[in-house]
Amino acid sequence: MSCVLITGSSRGIGLEFARQYAAADWSVLATCREPERAAGLGDLPANVSLHVLDVADHASIDRLANRLRGVAIDLLINNAGIYGTHDDGLGAIDYTSWEAVFRVNAIGALKMAEAFQDHLARSRLRLLVAIGSRMGSVGMNSRGGNYFYRASKAALNALHRSLAIDLAAHGITAVVLSPGWVRTEMAFPGAPQSAAESVGGMRRVIARLTPADTGKFFDYDGRELPW
Ligand SMILES: NC(=O)c1ccc[n+]([C@@H]2O[C@H](COP(=O)([O-])OP(=O)(O)OC[C@H]3O[C@@H](n4cnc5c(N)ncnc54)[C@H](OP(=O)(O)O)[C@@H]3O)[C@@H](O)[C@H]2O)c1
Repeated sequence: MSCVLITGSSRGIGLEFARQYAAADWSVLATCREPERAAGLGDLPANVSLHVLDVADHASIDRLANRLRGVAIDLLINNAGIYGTHDDGLGAIDYTSWEAVFRVNAIGALKMAEAFQDHLARSRLRLLVAIGSRMGSVGMNSRGGNYFYRASKAALNALHRSLAIDLAAHGITAVVLSPGWVRTEMAFPGAPQSAAESVGGMRRVIARLTPADTGKFFDYDGRELPW
């Protein structure tokens, strides 16, 4: 049985990953900040275990990595993310959320990869996947704005290029996936895709990954995206 650890599983895309991998008979380590408030995780089957994890808190990450020491994790999905306050454009930028957005979206993902590299290395599949965004692509930015969110996801991309290189010696494949534009709490209600469609697509991309893909950025439908 393959094993997946998912950050930010309380709702949205993370919860859908937990549901779909559980239905596919994986062992699912679903993590979230406050399990008692994560109503959607309550009715998942027995192959899902729930763990407390705040990716902005490095002690919380180290605690979980220690508690799971020796467990082979085939797939780590760095999914937890926040948008922060809308920066509202040049001249009215609210700088207060800059640090929080980076702490969760970029630094938290790096700390997770660092803390769980041994768990990945001892597994069969050895896959490190970060949920990025098209908004993190410098090459595709034609609309401007959204400074902090874009910059945090661009940082996530840069971090995973380095992780791909540094973890290749351990046989770990590291990629960034864009989920598309998905109807969750983070996105506008008019987003075109359901979480089920997005995660279904990303699971197909993940299932096809080979070591030759390491260091790449893919859309949920498998197209390679520019950094
Ligand atoms: N929806 C889209 O269209 C879209 C597009 C591109 C990229 N993404 C990315 O997809 C990922 C999932 O987003 P979503 O759309 O599912 O958003 P969401 O519904 O707002 O879910 C975000 C998840 O992240 C968790 N989280 C936030 N801060 C955390 C922390 N410090 N530690 C651990 N977990 C934390 C939240 O947990 P709590 O319940 O504890 O707050 C929640 O489970 C994010 O990385 C997002 O940037 C989404």
